[in-house]
Amino acid sequence: MIETQHLGRVFDGTVAVEDVSFSIKDGEAFAFLGPNGAGKTTTVRMLCCLIGATTGTGFIDGLDIREKSNHIKIRSMIGLLPENPGMYESLSAHRNLDFYARLYGVPESEREARISEMLKRLGIYERRNDAVGKFSKGMKQKIAIARALMHEPSYIFLDEPTAALDPEAALTVRNFLMELKKEGRTIFLNTHNLDEAQRVCDRIGVLKTRLLATGTPDELSSRFFGKSTVVGLKETNPDYLLALRQLPGVLDAKIGDKCILISVADPASQNPSIISTLVAKGAQIEYVQEVKHGLEDIYLKLMGDSK
Ligand SMILES: Nc1ncnc2c1ncn2[C@@H]1O[C@H](COP(=O)(O)OP(=O)(O)OP(=O)(O)O)[C@@H](O)[C@H]1O
Ligand SMILES: [Mg+2]
Repeated sequence: MIETQHLGRVFDGTVAVEDVSFSIKDGEAFAFLGPNGAGKTTTVRMLCCLIGATTGTGFIDGLDIREKSNHIKIRSMIGLLPENPGMYESLSAHRNLDFYARLYGVPESEREARISEMLKRLGIYERRNDAVGKFSKGMKQKIAIARALMHEPSYIFLDEPTAALDPEAALTVRNFLMELKKEGRTIFLNTHNLDEAQRVCDRIGVLKTRLLATGTPDELSSRFFGKSTVVGLKETNPDYLLALRQLPGVLDAKIGDKCILISVADPASQNPSIISTLVAKGAQIEYVQEVKHGLEDIYLKLMGDSK
């Protein structure tokens, strides 16, 4: 488990992170969203023991990040793709990975196989003997991801892993992250890409110095927008609204374009009575669908509310 308790960090009088508490279960993928300067990188750096916390603390698999004696153990369990990864530019991709594999104590018998596997999974095996200095930004990013995983960590922190990647390379990395999740690894992903967060992650946290919300996209959608069902109809009729508003659990109903939009407390239990009421009124139903708001709506609402 990754956990923070009232975690905070002040830089020279500037509050970068304040009173942040959350927990991420083992095997879960968590996306951390928030505007530039929200404190995402600072939070990750504290959890990876690169900088200290000013207030509160965090735990990696129960180990307190405040305790210096835990740092070596924590570092052996985590892999970090930092915001600006530096590589040995004059060394080849292979040598860079080999260097880190040795540093992290990967046994010699496993080293070669692991390096080759990573390079292949990320689609850069053919370039393994080229100096990293000659690589494009995206290729360097992939090497940095491979490097973060050399010691097969259980907890993987990635700070904007696909920011510099072309759409195809970004897809390779996203698919790779989903494979890592299937392997049971815990993923902490800082990203500005809401589609990526939705695809890769189970749960979302939205930060703006303070934590504004956490939850699954569905939970956040119903928390901030309520639950609603849309019923597509051949023809609408104001009588339908009157009948629907009588139903228990129906909070509101309004007519849209060839449909009725109904706010409900619980779509799964209320939809059958909505349908039977409409049918009894002679409505010709074309479709019934639960309305879900995407992460963009949720994010923009949270940002708007926090101003
Ligand atoms: N080493 C530092 N010294 C002083 N201030 C810092 C330092 N690192 C970060 N900050 C400040 O802390 C705040 C949070 O920065 P951070 O890099 O954590 O944001 P972020 O959410 O990762 O932003 P981005 O989306 O742009 O990467 C900013 O105001 C930043 O200027
Ligand atoms: Mg950042």
